Amino acid sequence: MSRETVADSLYARVRECDLCPLARTRTHAVPGEGPLTAEVMFIGEAPGMNEDRQGRPFVGQAGQLLNELLASAGLTREGVYICNVLKCRPPNNRDPLPGEIDACRDYLDEQIALIDPRLIVTLGRFSMARWFPGQSISRIHGKVREIDGRMVVPMYHPAAALHQQSLRETIIHDFEALPAILEHWRAERASAAAAEAFASATGTIGATSSQMRLFE
Ligand code: URA
Repeated sequence: MSRETVADSLYARVRECDLCPLARTRTHAVPGEGPLTAEVMFIGEAPGMNEDRQGRPFVGQAGQLLNELLASAGLTREGVYICNVLKCRPPNNRDPLPGEIDACRDYLDEQIALIDPRLIVTLGRFSMARWFPGQSISRIHGKVREIDGRMVVPMYHPAAALHQQSLRETIIHDFEALPAILEHWRAERASAAAAEAFASATGTIGATSSQMRLFE
């Protein structure tokens, strides 16, 4: 099955989902969007009012800031994949409930498996909690960890930065580090590929692409 077919089926299931009570209050479910081959995936919290109206992630004020942050990192919105922990808007933008996060978990798992990004950027504490439970965003924001063969970087949510100037500076700084993180990964991948090619040409045992040093 092609990636497109898998994505179409996933998006259709999300749009018709009734696994939690948010199905009754949403206007549109918001599956996520972006190239299915994106190297970078951004995971926010949940759709807000504008996202609920349009069925697209990060199209309101926080989305405007996200677009600017992407540009500061030399990335474009069209080049990255963007989704949320919850696919439906919680009423009045309240925090997601544990049962809602559980109900949506399989969709996010499927998205990560399908896109298979090299780098996941979590935006805010609810997506951060999936990889860094119990940790504090103020301590670990911007730090790269390798988890299950990919890099994960927790960041503040752009909506938080809209209201607090110091967080705005922090999130800009963290985004500006993304090109170096991606470059580091590409260089590691290229040197692992060269080592493998050398090993297979000479019959020696080479490095594998899974060998990647971490940096913080
Ligand atoms: N905040 C989010 O976490 N996600 C959106 O899609 C919009 C705002």
